[in-house]
Amino acid sequence: MNSFPLEAIETAGIDELRALQLKRLQATLAHAYANSPVYRAKFDQERIHPKDCRTLADLAKFPFTTKQDLRDSYPFGMFAVPREQCARIHASSGTTGKPTVVGYTRNDIDTWSHVMARSIRAAGARPGDLVHVSYGYGLFTGGLGAHYGAERLGLTVVPFGGGQTERQVQLINDFRPDIIMVTPSYMLAIADEFERQGLDPAQSSLRLGIFGAEPWTNDMREAIERRMGLDAVDIYGLSEVMGPGVANECLETKDGPTIWEDHFYPEIIDPETGELVADGELGELVFTSLTKEALPIIRYRTRDLTRLLPGTARTMRRMEKITGRSDDMMIVRGVNVFPTQIEELILKRAELAPHYQCILTREGPLDCLTVAVETRHDLAHDSAPAQAAAERLAHEIKTYIGTSARIELRACGGVERSMGKAKRVLDQRKAA
Ligand code: DLL
Repeated sequence: MNSFPLEAIETAGIDELRALQLKRLQATLAHAYANSPVYRAKFDQERIHPKDCRTLADLAKFPFTTKQDLRDSYPFGMFAVPREQCARIHASSGTTGKPTVVGYTRNDIDTWSHVMARSIRAAGARPGDLVHVSYGYGLFTGGLGAHYGAERLGLTVVPFGGGQTERQVQLINDFRPDIIMVTPSYMLAIADEFERQGLDPAQSSLRLGIFGAEPWTNDMREAIERRMGLDAVDIYGLSEVMGPGVANECLETKDGPTIWEDHFYPEIIDPETGELVADGELGELVFTSLTKEALPIIRYRTRDLTRLLPGTARTMRRMEKITGRSDDMMIVRGVNVFPTQIEELILKRAELAPHYQCILTREGPLDCLTVAVETRHDLAHDSAPAQAAAERLAHEIKTYIGTSARIELRACGGVERSMGKAKRVLDQRKAA
């Protein structure tokens, strides 16, 4: 275990960490102002200058950056280095319009590989382990991010990518990897495929899963751990800030991702007012990069809702496991509902499988929420126990979340599988 020690900064004193953050923050603000016309204009408009940042608290005086800022400067307008100095471009698909484009210098790729190696190590991997990567390769940051980090840590990488589920299972059986990196929803699809092939997924060689790129609950963690016979650890990140590896859970505590604060400075704000809230309070997560060159990002509004928690396994603060993004929040007849709240209740019913989708429709003036959910593969969806489970689920949604929902039971495979991020909300209200 100790043959691969932690980096000194992971357990440094808090004063040392804060001093390093301040030094890096000042350098980042100066770099953004000097080299990115977009940031210069934003700072000038607010009459704020990098020199005004004398303490970490001064960061709150600087303007936010949003996805819209990146869209407005599509594709490379926010870069703080000439495009020629970028070693790589990634982009996040986004549901509407143009993708958000991000760039990395060689040093940025090096930093990213470093924090990813740190993440994979925190999750419990060790040099020599074999890792099967099922995050998508390409413009999505998941595959290549995982790949470079795993190589940096000294792992053997199988760069499978998403899709071809049958072959994924075949290769996991043949190569006997120790670790899998994949979205939690696609892990479930792979588990189903194991069973379809008559194999018990709990008997596979996998000892560790590093799951992220979408919200998933602690109940889902338990369900995956039981079914796959592995430790399930949460990895968080977003393209605008870097990609995967902004924060990662430590295996020894599994108590929410530790934010690699020496590279990414977190704040939590009230999403309505933009005011900072205290550590421990729920709000929108905002990140400032501390070491990025090509695309320094200042106070980026992630739209992810969480709270900052004190460090446990490391000096750095943790974030509570993300329960939702403001984009995914459904407002059903005035009640705010997150898909993860429904996920928790589905996982309580042994008759149901955690493949689900929330469908919003409008009947006259009223919003209607339908939860499409599969029954366990060995239970007919029109059987009496399945119907009873559906009734219980509807009752619990009403009791615990406060909204009425229609439950639509589907047979195994009836809810579309994603090869990456699951689409949990289908809003058909505008089309109707
Ligand atoms: O999803 C990066 C990534 C790849 C993270 C692989 C982890 C593993 P984007 O496509 O830009 O980047 O999407 C970022 O995904 O703002 C969150 O809403 C969500 N997200 C990412 N990780 C988690 C997580 C990648 N562990 C957006 N829990 C973020 C909950 C997550 N949501």
